[in-house]
Amino acid sequence: MDDLRQKYIDAVAAASDETALEDIRVQAVGKKGEVALKMRELGKMTPEERQIAGPKLNALKDEINSAISAKKSALADAALDERLRTEWLDVTLPGRPQRQGTIHPISQVTEEISAIFGDMGFSVAEGPQVESDWYNFDALNIPAEHPTRTEMDTFYMTMPDGDNRPPHVLRTHTSPVQIRAMEMQGAPIRVIAPGRVYRADYDQTHTPMFHQLEGLAIDKDISMANLKWVLEEFCRAFFELDGIELRFRASHFPFTEPSAEVDIRCSWAGGTLKLGEGDDWMEILGSGMVHPHVLKSAGVDPDEWQGFAFGMGIDRLAMLKYGIPDLRAFFDSDLRWLRHYGFAALDVPTMRGGLSR
Ligand code: DAH
Repeated sequence: MDDLRQKYIDAVAAASDETALEDIRVQAVGKKGEVALKMRELGKMTPEERQIAGPKLNALKDEINSAISAKKSALADAALDERLRTEWLDVTLPGRPQRQGTIHPISQVTEEISAIFGDMGFSVAEGPQVESDWYNFDALNIPAEHPTRTEMDTFYMTMPDGDNRPPHVLRTHTSPVQIRAMEMQGAPIRVIAPGRVYRADYDQTHTPMFHQLEGLAIDKDISMANLKWVLEEFCRAFFELDGIELRFRASHFPFTEPSAEVDIRCSWAGGTLKLGEGDDWMEILGSGMVHPHVLKSAGVDPDEWQGFAFGMGIDRLAMLKYGIPDLRAFFDSDLRWLRHYGFAALDVPTMRGGLSR
């Protein structure tokens, strides 16, 4: 029995992993292990011999079992120590640079404007960039012979031979989304529609693709006064300046009656633009009360409903707010420009958290 004991205690001490330990356990104290075989021999012994050998065998079995479990936890401790030694982390290293990519000023400003109008109860509507000339012009009270069609330097799509759909254009403004939104939702309605628009024009202040944001509010008794309040609230929030002052100037658009262009007070003293002070005025948007013909085109009864609409250039607002001098740079994808004027990806503009930080 002493030989048996020595053999297994040594084997346990020499085992290098859990599988080896398990093999030893089966060999020594398993059902058909050496200790079990010895126990079977108890039957052939005299009662006196059995009284001595029985307890000794049981003690041997216990001893081997506890040697195995002690070795098991020693192996686990060693494995953990080894992991701790190899898998280490230097928490004093500097973080990775945060601004790998940035949010484009157009995206940023679109989010800012949407946050402001969202706060005033407007939701966002969308329409296609390839638009039928009916939505882009006729439905907006711009008939075929109207000068606006040529003034807008429209890109016409060539329709394939045999295609009898009406002529299509790249939308020249976001105003057609007014029609689509009213067709879909009817009245009352409060929506804004940001998006790309296209005109064949290119110089320092014009690019063939640019961005507009349309606004539309239709209800039973919406007036010019509501339009004025909404636009003033918007400008104050957007430019993050209390001293913003607006001027409403009578104008003309086919889709509104009456119509007003809105100018913002500014100064060019010393060659730099300052908003909210000085004696200059700069035009920032067009607006007015939606023309009854437009409501009718969209299936809304002008005897029952009325409201205002406005359209502004997103790119221009971005240039004004963030002091960006050349419109064309927006679309050049120059990395240095993007890093300079871009915004941190995780700073989402909200009314509570701040628009631009
Ligand atoms: N669609 C006009 C443009 O592109 C802008 C505009 C003016 C939109 C007056 C409106 C509005 O909704 O009421 O120049």
